[in-house]
Amino acid sequence: MHLTILVTGATGTVGREVVKQLSMYDGDIRVRAGVHSIIKGENLKRLPGVEIVEMDFEDQDSLHAAFTHVDKLFLITPMAKDQVDMAKTLIDEAKKAGVKHIVKLSAMGADAEPTIQLGRWHREIEKYIEDSGIAYTFLRPSSFMQNFVNYNADSIKHEGKLYMPTGDGKVGYIDVRDIAAVGVEALITQGHEGQVYELTGPEAISNDEAAQILSEVTGKQVEFVDVPGDAARKNMTEHGTPDWMADALMELYNVYKAGHSNQVFDSVQAVIDRKPHSFRQFVQDYKECFV
Ligand SMILES: NC(=O)c1ccc[n+]([C@@H]2O[C@H](COP(=O)([O-])OP(=O)(O)OC[C@H]3O[C@@H](n4cnc5c(N)ncnc54)[C@H](OP(=O)(O)O)[C@@H]3O)[C@@H](O)[C@H]2O)c1
Repeated sequence: MHLTILVTGATGTVGREVVKQLSMYDGDIRVRAGVHSIIKGENLKRLPGVEIVEMDFEDQDSLHAAFTHVDKLFLITPMAKDQVDMAKTLIDEAKKAGVKHIVKLSAMGADAEPTIQLGRWHREIEKYIEDSGIAYTFLRPSSFMQNFVNYNADSIKHEGKLYMPTGDGKVGYIDVRDIAAVGVEALITQGHEGQVYELTGPEAISNDEAAQILSEVTGKQVEFVDVPGDAARKNMTEHGTPDWMADALMELYNVYKAGHSNQVFDSVQAVIDRKPHSFRQFVQDYKECFV
């Protein structure tokens, strides 16, 4: 019997990796990639067994077609101010469509006490899924290694500097390829219902150590600059980051700085039976982004 899996946020950092890995899975799987804009989803269309569907989380009419005949959902919502409302709309739609399992991309510390704004939003969505009666698996990753590509590659490339307001706090950075691999396993194989996976890489490193690894692998000197918090926030808002997002990110950076994200978990190994990528391996694989 074939399985139809809808992936929302399919053109994003995690979503496109989930779609790619699902398309390579050997089995009768139909992957429906939920894309915000058809143009951004063009290259997903070429993957075997993948169909594209346009979805706007803020437009309920666009969701009905996307959910038709869907068995399982990989739920990704963007970092948006109304992300909880977006997620609740999607979960309601999943329930109406008879979806049997939701794998939700959450965040490490979602249930921590006291938590931060980003954690509270994720936990509220998790609770809504728990109350929906649909089977679920929550993926709670730490900070993505790919953030270095998305947000830091320019300054690393052009100035040889890694700017972060994180002091010597260590973070158990995770490669999104490992998050996707765990998600795919949870969607396809049995026994992941009701599970919560805290996901990290194999080690926790400071950004000074990250800069050191970037230097060694790229062969060019990369220096970590510990940016004072107020300067970091000012820089974000001057570059168009809205106040709510700057506040939420500064809260998160302060957690890193205080060393509260330095835990390492073995969930990746436990679920997919291989070690997660190290930061050094990640830099080797994405080297061209930094030179
Ligand atoms: N970055 C981290 O280190 C980290 C760590 C832990 C957890 N997380 C969580 O990961 C999630 C984000 O995942 P990501 O980084 O893969 O996302 P992302 O790269 O920011 O991509 C977001 C995706 O959502 C789509 N999207 C945005 N608004 C939409 C709308 N109104 N309707 C339909 N689709 C919409 C985007 O499409 P368009 O681009 O076309 O708009 C894109 O495909 C967040 O919940 C975040 O809290 C992140």
